[in-house]
Amino acid sequence: MKRQDPSVSLEQRDKLYEGKAKIVYATSDRNMVIQYFKDDATAFNALKKGTIVGKGVVNNRMSATLFSRLAKAGVPTHYIRTLSDREMLCRRLDIIKIETIVRNVVAGSLAKRTGLEEGTPIRQPIVELYLKSDPLGDPMINEDHVRMLSLATPVELAWMKRMALKINAVLRPHLLKRDLVLVDFKLEFGRGAGRKLYLGDEISPDTCRLWDRATREKLDKDRFRRDLGGVEDAYQEVYRRLVGEPTGA
Ligand code: TMP
Repeated sequence: MKRQDPSVSLEQRDKLYEGKAKIVYATSDRNMVIQYFKDDATAFNALKKGTIVGKGVVNNRMSATLFSRLAKAGVPTHYIRTLSDREMLCRRLDIIKIETIVRNVVAGSLAKRTGLEEGTPIRQPIVELYLKSDPLGDPMINEDHVRMLSLATPVELAWMKRMALKINAVLRPHLLKRDLVLVDFKLEFGRGAGRKLYLGDEISPDTCRLWDRATREKLDKDRFRRDLGGVEDAYQEVYRRLVGEPTGA
């Protein structure tokens, strides 16, 4: 497939990786990849499987909007530009096998682990680290484990934690202006050319908990995880608030 671009003539090449929600393709430029967003949804380490119609479009467009916003605020991201409804051109990263979670409100596994009620505000945002490993079910780890497993250098880890809080400081008010409470979210970072660090992956209702400011209604993947119904409508509502009119999916 040939793609026209003012600066580069990109050709989509081999599939490099297929995950639960995305496919990554090589391009004719070895430093760039194409991320393709699927409608497939999984939960509980793929024990639960389904489809959320139109999700790929929402996640692609929402990620593009938020990555652009973050870039303006000085956060280096892998996003280069949008190619289509479901595809974005990105820098090729060597993904660090750590899932970085930031939390502003108690929910999900933090509620389970602490016994605190879901919805309890957290005065100072919390950063948590998880090992990105499907076979192990993404267990929580600490900085000593990161060092033991050589997942990232101490300098890289310090940068990731600082960036995670900066990303939270940028996104939280941006979303609140659109009546969305950023409860918690997951980030992945990676090394690009010259081992420079970038934010990778996606920022979407798959990877964030988003609650309506007034009603506290869940507008994210928890509707799918917990069988709450209205999954597609929730994704379209988030799209409408952050990107524009619904996708018509
Ligand atoms: P948790 O409360 O289940 O630990 O989830 C914290 C945040 O991370 C939440 O916004 C959803 C997101 N998340 C992912 O992006 N991928 C995952 O596999 C899991 C379990 C959570």
